[in-house]
Amino acid sequence: MSSPSVILGIETSCDDTAAAVIVDGKLASSVVSSQQIHAIYGGVVPEVASRAHEKWLVTVVEKALADAGVSKSDLTGLAVTHGPGLIGSLMVGVSFTKALSVGLGIPFVGVNHLEGHLASLMLTDPAPPFPHLCLVVSGGHTQLMQIDGFASYRILGATRDDAAGEAFDKVGKILGLEYPAGPKIDQLAAGGNTAYHAFPRTRLKGYDYSFSGIKTSVLYYLNAFPEKERDQILTDSMADVCASFQEAVVDMLVAPVKAAIRETGVKQIGLVGGVSANSRLRARMKQLTDSVGGALFVPEMTLCMDNAAMIAAAGHVRLTQNESSPLTLTADPALKLI
Ligand code: KG4
Ligand code: ZN
Repeated sequence: MSSPSVILGIETSCDDTAAAVIVDGKLASSVVSSQQIHAIYGGVVPEVASRAHEKWLVTVVEKALADAGVSKSDLTGLAVTHGPGLIGSLMVGVSFTKALSVGLGIPFVGVNHLEGHLASLMLTDPAPPFPHLCLVVSGGHTQLMQIDGFASYRILGATRDDAAGEAFDKVGKILGLEYPAGPKIDQLAAGGNTAYHAFPRTRLKGYDYSFSGIKTSVLYYLNAFPEKERDQILTDSMADVCASFQEAVVDMLVAPVKAAIRETGVKQIGLVGGVSANSRLRARMKQLTDSVGGALFVPEMTLCMDNAAMIAAAGHVRLTQNESSPLTLTADPALKLI
């Protein structure tokens, strides 16, 4: 019997320090240390993020190994996010992984963070068949893709300005909510009226997205009131404002997917990235796929937000295909998927 493949994945592209172990393609452990410190600044401070990665990465890796019941000497390969993301943050993970690879005498492979989000669906049961369409919605990206096979990607559309998660976070800031505001808006919106205010929906030709307008319209809507009235709205009708804003974002996200299903005939749909945790988006995407006789594939909640399990999953496939990266691999903040 051949010895098992034991892959350690490492993710440090933004403000989450994460490590995970995959044994023979199955998730054995996943540890994420989220840096709360950025909340007081209202957004991620790059230097603070890289310092925190450096401080916590060893502890996070040791916990991932212990949770999986393996030791460093059991590892057969390593996978690390090498872009896109914050340069200083990426460098911590990439340098650490290269050193570990040399120290243990095992190969490592660099993984694109977006490929990681797409690969998070390989850890769902069942995984989506190929081809499938996938909506990638995170704090940094919004893309609609057709996935014909592993690493066989076609970008159908993308945001021309803000990412969907960025819209949640920026509107959250306007509403006085803590960063990142997506989860809180989702929670508040559950008790609100989606018809309270009709924020305009931007719908571009084809499959592209634009979210800068919705952020401005929330700001203009609130600024049209005198200060006292505005404060009253934020006290009395916060849930309604959140529900109306969220419904507009969800409408804008779903419309191109509906058009793509019609035009490609592909009805198996993946939904990945931090915003895929949004309860209303999940419900509306499920409605859509049900209505066309298709199926929706969403990672379990812990694998929606940034994590290293998805990086290890993508790395597992690449390493199994005998692919590895050279020690000259560097962090690339603007790394393209295709
Ligand atoms: O994928 P992710 O963890 O990091 C990036 O690669 O960007 O996504 C983080 C984003 C943040 O903008 C956060 O506000 C958003 O995902 N998010 C949500 C929800 N949970 C996280 N947005 C809407 N509803 C949620 N439940
Ligand atoms: Zn991400």
